[in-house]
Amino acid sequence: MIWTVLLLCYTLILLFVILSNRKRTKREPPLDKGVIPWLGHALEFGKDAAKFLAQMKEKHGDIFTVRVAGRYVTVLLDPNSYDAVLQNSASLDFSRYAKVLMERIFLLRLPQYDPVTERAAMNQHFHGENLTYLNATMQRNLQTLLTSDILQNRMDWKQDGLFRLCYSLLFRAGYLTLFGAGQNSSPDTVYDEFRRFDGLLTKMARTTLKPEEKREAQLVRERLWNFLTFMGPDQREGPSPWLQSYLKRLQEEGVDRDTQRRALLMQLWATQGNTGPATFWLLGYLLTFPEAMEAVKREFEGLMPAEGASEEAFLENLQNTPVFDSALSEALRLTAAPFITREVLVNTTLHMADGQEYDLRQGDRVCLFPYLSPQMDPEIHQEPEKFKYDRFLNTDGTERKDFFKGGRKMKYYTMPWGAGKNVCVGRHFAISGIKQFLFMVLTRLDLELCDPDSEMPVADASRYGFGMLQPAGDLQIRYRLKDPS
Ligand code: HEM
Repeated sequence: MIWTVLLLCYTLILLFVILSNRKRTKREPPLDKGVIPWLGHALEFGKDAAKFLAQMKEKHGDIFTVRVAGRYVTVLLDPNSYDAVLQNSASLDFSRYAKVLMERIFLLRLPQYDPVTERAAMNQHFHGENLTYLNATMQRNLQTLLTSDILQNRMDWKQDGLFRLCYSLLFRAGYLTLFGAGQNSSPDTVYDEFRRFDGLLTKMARTTLKPEEKREAQLVRERLWNFLTFMGPDQREGPSPWLQSYLKRLQEEGVDRDTQRRALLMQLWATQGNTGPATFWLLGYLLTFPEAMEAVKREFEGLMPAEGASEEAFLENLQNTPVFDSALSEALRLTAAPFITREVLVNTTLHMADGQEYDLRQGDRVCLFPYLSPQMDPEIHQEPEKFKYDRFLNTDGTERKDFFKGGRKMKYYTMPWGAGKNVCVGRHFAISGIKQFLFMVLTRLDLELCDPDSEMPVADASRYGFGMLQPAGDLQIRYRLKDPS
């Protein structure tokens, strides 16, 4: 026994020494291990990744390797070189890190998980006619929820936090649209539990939960798994065709019921975790920038459905909204902050746009952070920290696509949906939901800031890297049904 323990200690020390002793070769990116053995830069990374990576960019330039909790991560911040990563799926793999997160956050292992098949299956359901059907269902659910939420005391002002209002409405409508009306839980209950889960998500992903948070995470997971248990085609208002076919595939692969529930929770997060927060930022910016609000309202007024117009005709009409599109792109530019992470499967050379070449080591990770560049890059976007609703509009009202850096036209000037083969599958559904919600709120409600001088809350810095940012705090608003007279 003693020999086993000693051998284990020796192996661990050896591993530790090997990992700590890593030296940069001439062809590799600058290496910054940080001063704390093994942990390296993990603490700064977890606290505020945007600030930390901006400091590293200042120190090392557009590419560098940092040590984070025993792993080596090469961070690339030159958007002109992003294709070298995004287009190289043979050596730089999407699914391995996705599997790590699946296990850490959802306690989920799907042995037959293949992101290419998953993506193809999902694409089918979120495009073309299927998307039109989903959009129409979403429209009805949003309408019902909004009306029922304000039906009591119709004409009285109701006060709320804007983040809570947006997230709760978009979540519940999206849940009803994709998951159906579950038999053993109301969408409100699922939303409340989901928010608890979402609050612990970054710590689950980083494995930094404290013991009591671990217990809470497990309880919340179990409650959510139970809510998602009775999903089946026999349900009163059943799940969407997408979810039915997803479940059928899992069953055909022999995935047990317990694992199916875990997979459903993962899908709940993937489909509902970002749209509500994105809507909050957009509506928050509109409320704090009256000129932008006026421009969007003017555009929407021109799209009011005629008396007796069909739902399809209205949704079709809602396609052409360049002012809204620009305002949304601008809100997302400021607040969409995912890491795009790939695992290096074999030693690879990265060819940068400026002609430089860097070797990447097998087993390391590569991470793009479009939030820093292109999105907040002052060379590409003037005054990048400011919300300018018309940043993505040409003077003739068409979409602006020409942005430059160092005289070179950018292929990637904002990347809220990722890019390349793994670009967000649900982006058209998300945009449509946000637009429908905003249209309803702006045309049917009086909605205003409780304090007209309120400013947008800052972002919760611990969420950089996990999709849409969330505010640290909220924006207090009041709203009521518009007086029809
Ligand atoms: C504002 C809302 C949303 C934002 C900002 C967003 C953002 C993103 C980003 C950046 C990625 C790429 C990740 C990478 O390359 O590593 C992604 C992937 C994905 N998104 Fe979204 N998303 C949103 C809403 C949605 C919705 C509503 C759905 C589904 C209905 C969805 C489904 C997916 C899926 C399935 C993937 C993985 C694609 C793959 O495996 O190749 N997303 N999303």
